[in-house]
Amino acid sequence: MNYKLLIADKIAKATELNIDDVQKLIEIPPKPEMGDFAFPCFQLAKVFRKAPNLIAQELAEKIDKEGLDKVETVGGYLNFFVNKSSFSKNIIEKILTEKENYGHSNIGEGKTITIDFSSPNIAKPFHVGHLCSTAIGNSLYKILSSQGYKCIGINHLGDWGTQFGKLIAAYKRWVDEEALEKEPIKELLRIYVKFHEEAEKDPSLEDIARQHFKNLEDGNEEEVRLWQKIKDVSLMEFNRIYDMLNIKFDSYAGESFYNDKMDAVVEELKEKNLLVESKGAQVVNLDEYNMPPCIILKADGASIYATRDLAAAIYRKKTYDFYKNIYVVGMDQSLHFKQVFTTLKLMGYDWADNCVHVGFGLVKFADKKLSTRKGDVIFLEDLLNEGIARAKQAIEEKNPSLENKDEVAKKVGLGAVIFTYLKNNRERDIIFNFDDILNFDGETGPYVQYSYARAKSILRRAQEEGFAVNPDYSKLTSSEEFELTKILSSFNEAILLAIEKYEPSIVTRYVIDVAKAFNKFYNLCPILSCEDSGLKAARLKLVEASTYVIKNALALLGIEVVDKM
Ligand code: ARG
Repeated sequence: MNYKLLIADKIAKATELNIDDVQKLIEIPPKPEMGDFAFPCFQLAKVFRKAPNLIAQELAEKIDKEGLDKVETVGGYLNFFVNKSSFSKNIIEKILTEKENYGHSNIGEGKTITIDFSSPNIAKPFHVGHLCSTAIGNSLYKILSSQGYKCIGINHLGDWGTQFGKLIAAYKRWVDEEALEKEPIKELLRIYVKFHEEAEKDPSLEDIARQHFKNLEDGNEEEVRLWQKIKDVSLMEFNRIYDMLNIKFDSYAGESFYNDKMDAVVEELKEKNLLVESKGAQVVNLDEYNMPPCIILKADGASIYATRDLAAAIYRKKTYDFYKNIYVVGMDQSLHFKQVFTTLKLMGYDWADNCVHVGFGLVKFADKKLSTRKGDVIFLEDLLNEGIARAKQAIEEKNPSLENKDEVAKKVGLGAVIFTYLKNNRERDIIFNFDDILNFDGETGPYVQYSYARAKSILRRAQEEGFAVNPDYSKLTSSEEFELTKILSSFNEAILLAIEKYEPSIVTRYVIDVAKAFNKFYNLCPILSCEDSGLKAARLKLVEASTYVIKNALALLGIEVVDKM
């Protein structure tokens, strides 16, 4: 039982208010002397036409006290002191029964959510910025799935547009097949840059490129073959990263997928009288919404990014009948999504209100070594490999005799990087510094993973000692034990808040709190050396419960645990 819910239920029964409304009002007091939960009665004063302190007093008498030590009133507040031993027993047993499912629910059952994430551009580097969308999207996928939502992860690849005409022209002239095999993106980047240099000298190349793209749109065999080749080699490189991070998509329907679906959208816009001409282009006027027009067809008749996003949203609604349609894309595209969603609304699609742009900030480097020459980007793969190498080094120093060091280093190194990307409010820029993110004592991935490994090691030792289990939960009375249990009990709440705000960082902050509370408990309460066997067993159960919560929370972030490190 979630205790906040339990208390909300008691209040709801005593007041005949709605339990959800009550739950939103319940607070966690800043000091334990003020109780474990508090209910402010100020907002009820209007409803009941009574002074808040009077309401509090009446409620204090009326409320069902089962599972509570006492209910106190202080001014307009009602403070609840839960019965620690029944609380601890309930929570710990619930966690140990539900194990990997603890924190999960089925509130999303029957609802489908499409999540457009990662979505890199073909033939362009998968750089450090792409991990934002990839990590946030992957985490939202897991977080939403944990509550029963059916998620569809869509990699909306940037695999269409006039740049492919240029790439094809460049490919036919300058590609080095061997280099393309070895380092596809670097080679594609090289010929793309070369195209621009050559086109400065010989502008007719631009026309050739335009013709190639036109042919590609029309399905001409040669262009389609080269385009497919460029796409295949790029995807090979991207998939290496997805494999490394263990990330999967349900659909790779990228921009090219909508090539044959855009005419219908343009027709529909015309029929609905939404298209107007502006400097030769066909646009949807958004003056009324204080936005620049949404361009649908350029002066040369070519469709653009926004046209494809309109087609994609309509396709997703038809195919998946989504409850929410989420786009995890940088905040620099905020205007684009506002224009697309507004256009959909103007087309008469009320479900446009269920389209959500989940934006994020930039990645910046404090590390001088990682900032490369101007104009260059840092490839994500290099960053990930560096993280793994540094984790390996740290393990060599701390625990040289550890088995399967490489596997542990991989989980710790990747975990440290992902954790950093998911640690702060997503709209804030990320300041990346390897020394900080691998610090075992900071608020880092390794710190949380280490807390887990520590807990696992206690459990292993207890088992080796052949420890008989007969926990006496009534003995878990210290503030450290109670604080830890309380935090463990609020896992589901943290997940629900993360969903409400599309914010995995709420789960990240939560797991940091769990690890901190666990370490405090571990440092102040003897476990294996505890003399009282009932208390010792109860503490071991609390340790075990903590391992499940840490493991489950990290899993929602896309981070694995290690039993030893
Ligand atoms: N390929 C785009 C980019 O790299 C992101 C695509 C996001 N998804 C979308 N449906 N527009 O900027």
